[in-house]
Amino acid sequence: MGYFEDLFSLAGKTALVTGGATGIGFMCAEALVRAGARSIIVSRKADACAKAAADLNAMGAPGTAESFAGDVGSEAGVAAVVAALQERTDALHILVNNAGKSWGEPLERFPFKAWDGVMSLNVAGLFTLTRDLLPLLERSTSEADPARVVNLGSVMGTAALGDGAYSYAASKAAVHHLTRILAKELASRHVTVNAFAPGPFQSKMTAFATGTEGGRAKVASTVPAGRIGEKQDIAGALLFLCGRGGSYTTGAILPLDGGIAVQTGHELFGGHD
Ligand SMILES: NC(=O)c1ccc[n+]([C@@H]2O[C@H](COP(=O)([O-])OP(=O)(O)OC[C@H]3O[C@@H](n4cnc5c(N)ncnc54)[C@H](OP(=O)(O)O)[C@@H]3O)[C@@H](O)[C@H]2O)c1
Repeated sequence: MGYFEDLFSLAGKTALVTGGATGIGFMCAEALVRAGARSIIVSRKADACAKAAADLNAMGAPGTAESFAGDVGSEAGVAAVVAALQERTDALHILVNNAGKSWGEPLERFPFKAWDGVMSLNVAGLFTLTRDLLPLLERSTSEADPARVVNLGSVMGTAALGDGAYSYAASKAAVHHLTRILAKELASRHVTVNAFAPGPFQSKMTAFATGTEGGRAKVASTVPAGRIGEKQDIAGALLFLCGRGGSYTTGAILPLDGGIAVQTGHELFGGHD
């Protein structure tokens, strides 16, 4: 096996990507298929999932894609997804908890109901799915090659960025904290748990701001690196975490944000010569 293949090949591995038909989830699913994994995508829209899987299979990459419909935003939905997955595989090597939703409204109008759905999907669903898939994840683990859980957090869970998405930002801070807690509890069970904390990427969720060229340029101008995220930014990080070289990394909140989280906006002493 060549050097790069040894580090990054996912041949023989099975992955589940929630919300894998669109946006960052699709970027993850593509990276997994290109690295040779069997990538299973699940979200509520069966047609979108089936089309995404067909597109991934048409790439001629070493891995394969398949899909089924499911909802990971409720207790019953998570149970159904777990049952459907168990029918397809008896071992899971990689779980990408990517499905998520947001709610944006000015502070004074931000409604109570904007908490329930966001927290149910982004936090309770993510936690419960991980909990219920542990038996499948543990079936494939070893000290040398642990199972991998990758959660989608956000730079909004790291930096104090409300941006009208109060429940979303709080939910992502919760994802980061749960990631560290689960990483601690599962390290000795040979399951790594890490999170991505992305800055702005083009997707359905961010279409209101990144859906046009002008919008993307405006968003890019707020990022220290001067651009929004690209699919390679996700793929490189995912293949590191899921490959051989990621087996000793757990509890990391990886900033994929072009420097937003370390931006402070001012120099403490006004920038002396
Ligand atoms: N784009 C960004 O700038 C950015 C930045 C930081 C973090 N993130 C995070 O990245 C993740 C993906 O978001 P995205 O930006 O790629 O947006 P997106 O394209 O809107 O993706 C969200 C995905 O979640 C799925 N989903 C929503 N509710 C679901 C449910 N109840 N059960 C199962 N799947 C569900 C959607 O599919 P269905 O509608 O078919 O269910 C969709 O595929 C989210 O966790 C988001 O918070 C995004």
